[in-house]
Amino acid sequence: MSSSRSWSRSLLLTCISLCLLSIARCESLLDDVVKRSNDSLLWGAYRPNLYVGVRPRIPKSLMAGLMWTNVDTYGSISRIRHACEQSEDMGYYGWDSYDARLGGHQVIDDYGMGIKLDVDFVKLPEAENGQNWALRVRGTPKKGAPEDIKTAMFFYTYLEGEGILEIQKNEENEGSRPYIVGETPDLGTFLIATKNRFGEHPTFLTAPNNFEDAEETVMDSDYYISLNVEEDDIWKMKDVLLQLLDQKIRIDLQAKGITSLEDLPPAFEELVLPNVAGNTNVQIVEKVFEGAFEFDIIYNSVPFLNVVTEDVITAQIESNKAAFKERFEQTFPIAAPFKNESSLQLFSQRAFANLYGGIGYFYGNSIVSTHGVEDAEDGDYEFAHGFENADMKLQEGTAKLDVERTLFTATPSRPHFARGFYWDEGFHLIPLGLWDTDLSLEILQSWFSLIDEKGWLGREQILGPEARSQVPAEFQTQYPDIANPPTLILALKAFIEQMKSYSGAGDFAERALNQEGDGVSGVTSEADLLRVSHLEFPELTTKFLRSLYPKLRKHYYWFRDTQAGDLESWERDAFSDVEGYRWRGRTYEHCLASGLDDYPRAQPPSFAELHVDLMSWMISFTKNLRFVAEFLGEEEDAATFAEYENNMMHNLDDLHWDEDTGMYCDASVDEYDDPLFVCHTGYVSLMPLMLGLLPSDSPKLGRLLEVLRDEDELWSPYGIRSLSRSDRFYGQGENYWRGPIWINMNYMVLSSLYKNYMQVSGPYQELATAIYNELRVNVVNTVYREWARSGIFYEQYNSETGVGQRTKGFTGWTSLVVNILSEQY
Ligand SMILES: *[C@@H]1O[C@H](CO)[C@@H](O)[C@H](O)[C@H]1NC(C)=O
Ligand SMILES: *[C@@H]1O[C@H](CO)[C@@H](O)[C@H](O)[C@H]1NC(C)=O
Repeated sequence: MSSSRSWSRSLLLTCISLCLLSIARCESLLDDVVKRSNDSLLWGAYRPNLYVGVRPRIPKSLMAGLMWTNVDTYGSISRIRHACEQSEDMGYYGWDSYDARLGGHQVIDDYGMGIKLDVDFVKLPEAENGQNWALRVRGTPKKGAPEDIKTAMFFYTYLEGEGILEIQKNEENEGSRPYIVGETPDLGTFLIATKNRFGEHPTFLTAPNNFEDAEETVMDSDYYISLNVEEDDIWKMKDVLLQLLDQKIRIDLQAKGITSLEDLPPAFEELVLPNVAGNTNVQIVEKVFEGAFEFDIIYNSVPFLNVVTEDVITAQIESNKAAFKERFEQTFPIAAPFKNESSLQLFSQRAFANLYGGIGYFYGNSIVSTHGVEDAEDGDYEFAHGFENADMKLQEGTAKLDVERTLFTATPSRPHFARGFYWDEGFHLIPLGLWDTDLSLEILQSWFSLIDEKGWLGREQILGPEARSQVPAEFQTQYPDIANPPTLILALKAFIEQMKSYSGAGDFAERALNQEGDGVSGVTSEADLLRVSHLEFPELTTKFLRSLYPKLRKHYYWFRDTQAGDLESWERDAFSDVEGYRWRGRTYEHCLASGLDDYPRAQPPSFAELHVDLMSWMISFTKNLRFVAEFLGEEEDAATFAEYENNMMHNLDDLHWDEDTGMYCDASVDEYDDPLFVCHTGYVSLMPLMLGLLPSDSPKLGRLLEVLRDEDELWSPYGIRSLSRSDRFYGQGENYWRGPIWINMNYMVLSSLYKNYMQVSGPYQELATAIYNELRVNVVNTVYREWARSGIFYEQYNSETGVGQRTKGFTGWTSLVVNILSEQY
């Protein structure tokens, strides 16, 4: 029981002393830290596209999930719950607390099925390496639903790749429940048992001959089926289950010679699995309840069999809940003028828990075009971003299925965008990195491992058929010359800043070392230590950055090469004749690569364009890469990057500053090939400020601050608008990035004001402070007010009313409100 506690103690003490004496032994201890950290992240709710889905971070292995439906009538079964939806009859669902190393609690308020589910996912402390877990599922009839409402719960597992999986039942003991056993090369042998904690079950009468003989059957046993499903279809578990139930209904109708569902037994009696057990790749266990219920699903690694009791699960759930709350208050304390009150705490915790609970582990191939958008048909911009079907492209050979890859990533929205987005991910890692530095580095590493031999990293990672099923065919293909804002450098920068200011695990390590007592929360303190192991042991950081550096560098040069602007063909007066950049693959309406899809750009699109947002990103990329190079002692590289940076800073002003409008602008040429500025004031113009590129005494900073605070331009009571209210495109067309307020960009403004312009003296310090304070309150109030009204975090907020709009359940970068509320930038 106390192994993890004593491990923490011995680790710190021995490592500190051994590292002084013997490098070899120190290294093996560090390997142990890395292994323990990795092991403690093995299992998680890493299938964020599902309401309840658990899997390990192993490419092809065991997958688990939950489905359910009301069975009072036949009417609900076509809507069996499995994948997250934003449907009318589903209420709020999401995590109150979540931490992949410990577990979490999720509420699913299912109006349509008349039931509210409380689902606890919990890692169990007894196993070495944290490899045991449990799900505790409680159902409570919704207000207004009948007290005897009947619900069928389906727990399933399936196996991808090698291994065995089967259902077994102790035939000698009639009351025993079926359990699932299996073995895979990575997981070893395991057993998954279920245990009912409370709840009634429906009953029915069977009258074989006459009514006198009628016997009451209580449906308190579990129903089950083992079946084989083709590997390509195995993720479609809802379809598999529907087909099973449908088939059963048909057979029974036929057997009884009847034509109407009404002549069948009641739905709860009919919709049960046929109790077939075998060694197959899919196993489903069903429980049917009447009214409220609670049951556990317990995954045991076999050497630890019989260790996990209900009491242990209960104790761990309680301890996790307390640990989450405590850590949250320490990591993201609410800062004045906001009051430390419970509604704001709940708001903030939910935003964060759902960001964390949205982390997934994905595996599969993606569809990649065999050529870049601009190689294909010179200058035909409408081709760019091919609005053609991916299948057609595969057939024509203009696209191919890439090799299978894995990705560990957070996701912007569970019901809508449960996959990896490059541009979003850098933002996701900012709060996640403060909570669990090592986790954020795992994710960073996973993303960088996708960088190909040319240095390209696809902006959207749609890995495997399950992920593809959520994306319209015309958007599935990725192009090897399309970029995305390199936001992962923001995460790297955040890590570097954490490293610089790190002063020891402090309280957490202290408690880990001094802990006495019950043994349950031993895992909590070990987890807290593992979260910061790269900060605690600089050797690990060096190793990490060293392994990342070659890919990072390649990625940087890919940007420089493929997104270079053309400074030669048109006369441009600039300090450097190479430093200018253009997003590839734009159309008349869109520049998806920039992340700001419909933000107005030059018309018509031209090879002569230069984009100020990309230029700013490139400067920031260069700065951060230079820092990493310096840290690693790559002096030659560092000198080169310093030179690039200097050239770029000159060219930012030479190419993009328009003195007439007093604004940073895109650049292009007119019909006579003379240079002109393309000025649409908005997020694009603010990029040099957001990324902290301007010195605190730059008059250009003063000008940007003015525009920022101007209500006829970017300022609204709800946050900074994406496009100036005075721009002729404001609110026009799709109106995606033409006015609406986005939280990630507001975060960037706030973060930069706070770090670069408030704490550094200069002529604009007061103005920057005033704007910061006001903006911070506006942004928090907007997101909070909409959450308090609807329980929902939105993708963006209306620039005239502040009302949340577009995607609901967007706890990707909207969750940055947690950092804003606690002033953690
Ligand atoms: C982390 O764990 C996974 C799953 O057990 C394993 O495949 C992988 O090699 C481990 N990585 C490290 C760095 O130990
Ligand atoms: C905020 O309130 C909680 C109790 O709700 C308390 O534990 C915490 O210490 C408070 N934080 C600050 C910064 O006062």
